[in-house]
Amino acid sequence: MADPVLAPEEHRDLAPAIAQALDLFSTPLPIEAANVRRGYLDLLGEEDPTGTHFGQRLMVSRALPLIYQRFWRPFGVRLLMGFTGPGTEEEHRMALSMLSIDPADRVLDVACGPGNFSRDFAHAASEGLVVGIDASASMLDVAVRETKSDNVAYIRGDASALPFRDSSFDAVCCFAALYLIEEPMRALAEVVRVLAPGGRVALLTSCSRGPLPASVTSPAVRRLSGVRIFDRDELKRALLDDGLVEVDQQVTGLAQFLSGRKPEVA
Ligand SMILES: C[S@@+](CC[C@H](N)C(=O)[O-])C[C@H]1O[C@@H](n2cnc3c(N)ncnc32)[C@H](O)[C@@H]1O
Repeated sequence: MADPVLAPEEHRDLAPAIAQALDLFSTPLPIEAANVRRGYLDLLGEEDPTGTHFGQRLMVSRALPLIYQRFWRPFGVRLLMGFTGPGTEEEHRMALSMLSIDPADRVLDVACGPGNFSRDFAHAASEGLVVGIDASASMLDVAVRETKSDNVAYIRGDASALPFRDSSFDAVCCFAALYLIEEPMRALAEVVRVLAPGGRVALLTSCSRGPLPASVTSPAVRRLSGVRIFDRDELKRALLDDGLVEVDQQVTGLAQFLSGRKPEVA
């Protein structure tokens, strides 16, 4: 009977970036589960961990990914960050600056959507590897179609159960997604787990402002849109509790950028 495990020598038949990503998996992938028919590695099949709220369903619809980068995201992020907040270009610059990617780095883009940030990271990690993971097949179809760099691998998987070994990546980004992910604190713990000592993290998500705490505003906003509002200190505290250092928070409108570094092992 054939060995059910995809051994490293069999990775050679796959796109090199997908083969490299597979080498980082904590559990070797059974051959029958290595579905790369659509240009990304599909770990979910019929499973859909994205949730049932309206905003969450939009992300896995066929239509939204087609207008996401040009129309939906610029408009949605403006609403979140306010009209004086950073525009799309500035946001990309901030992501690169927070992650300070070296050419040979391994970078993970969690909830990468159509790969709009993964492609930037591919230039910065020109001799390294970029892995974009997202649960939406239609987002990943766009990502695969629009990505020309051969150092990028896309994976359809759950941000709250990353398939990688501890300390696999030098930089991990999660932009505009934690507020949509069903289990954001699990996803955040996964981000920290897969970060290598000395590695950097960059997050963009929602942030509670004004007199009402997130415990009051978040359930109502979430019921309508699927978007969760985080308390101002909630995520910063979680990163510090997880042992990250140099944790920095920039709040703009109802959004926050967070960055931090995992300490080098003593
Ligand atoms: C608004 S998009 C963000 C895309 C990109 N990071 C950006 O900044 O434009 C949010 C993404 O989160 C993904 N997502 C939601 N829940 C997820 C989960 N549990 N695992 C992986 N991806 C998830 C959605 O499929 C969607 O592509």
